[in-house]
Amino acid sequence: MKNDKLPLPKIDSRLNSIGIIMDGNGRWAKKRLLPRSAGHVAGAKIIKQVLSDLREMGVHHVTLYAFSTENWKRSKEEVDGLMELFYKYLDEQVLGALRSDKSFGVRIIGDKSGLPERLRRKCIEVEEASGDREFICNVAINYGGRDEILMAANAAFRERGGEITKEDLERHLYTSHSPDPDLIIRTGGENRVSNFLLWQGAYSELHVTSTLWPDFGRADIIKAVEDFYSRQRRYGGVIEE
Ligand code: IPE
Ligand code: IPE
Ligand code: MG
Repeated sequence: MKNDKLPLPKIDSRLNSIGIIMDGNGRWAKKRLLPRSAGHVAGAKIIKQVLSDLREMGVHHVTLYAFSTENWKRSKEEVDGLMELFYKYLDEQVLGALRSDKSFGVRIIGDKSGLPERLRRKCIEVEEASGDREFICNVAINYGGRDEILMAANAAFRERGGEITKEDLERHLYTSHSPDPDLIIRTGGENRVSNFLLWQGAYSELHVTSTLWPDFGRADIIKAVEDFYSRQRRYGGVIEE
């Protein structure tokens, strides 16, 4: 059966929030003797279908890792290309979707102050057009889990003027409007979290697939969901059989 015709799996409220580390664009391009930028373009193209599938399944929060605080280490050519791609994607795809679909929302998480000014303003425009909606996609751009925890701890400390609680800190996380991810999917086969949702992912189930991000489709979603439902989430406790 063609990948996009496969029936979507049934899920329940245990799988309400999903994080995705969209890795493998560079290797996808290399395999085809294309520049890395072609991999990023191909990766951006599949996002719409993945979000549509997850939404149809009944997921309400998706957090996509698009650019980490460490990705600035890449060549200027690659970084500039990515910033341009993010701008175009937000401007051409996301703003239109937000206007036509009132239950679809987008938040940009990460340190916007480090982004090129034009992109920073586009991120704000997108968030203003969105607000709280039934389905939320958080896009992590210039995002790092360690920076986020530091930023939130400092903000909470300033607010309290002294010792802070877990709840104080969580209120200041970029993701304070979304529940912690139940499942984090990583494409590209690396068994690591690369500074993604370090606080929020403390008890997330991890599913790593060797599929490269631009090839990620329904068959991969089905595998990830099956893997998730085969797990027993114990949160440090003991479940009596
Ligand atoms: C992920 O793909 C996209 C970003 C980090 C922006 P990569 O560009 O890391 O692809 P690989 O890991 O080199 O294949
Ligand atoms: C993680 O991928 C970041 C994103 C997908 C945006 P990387 O390619 O940056 O991760 P490492 O370098 O393999 O850890
Ligand atoms: Mg990578």
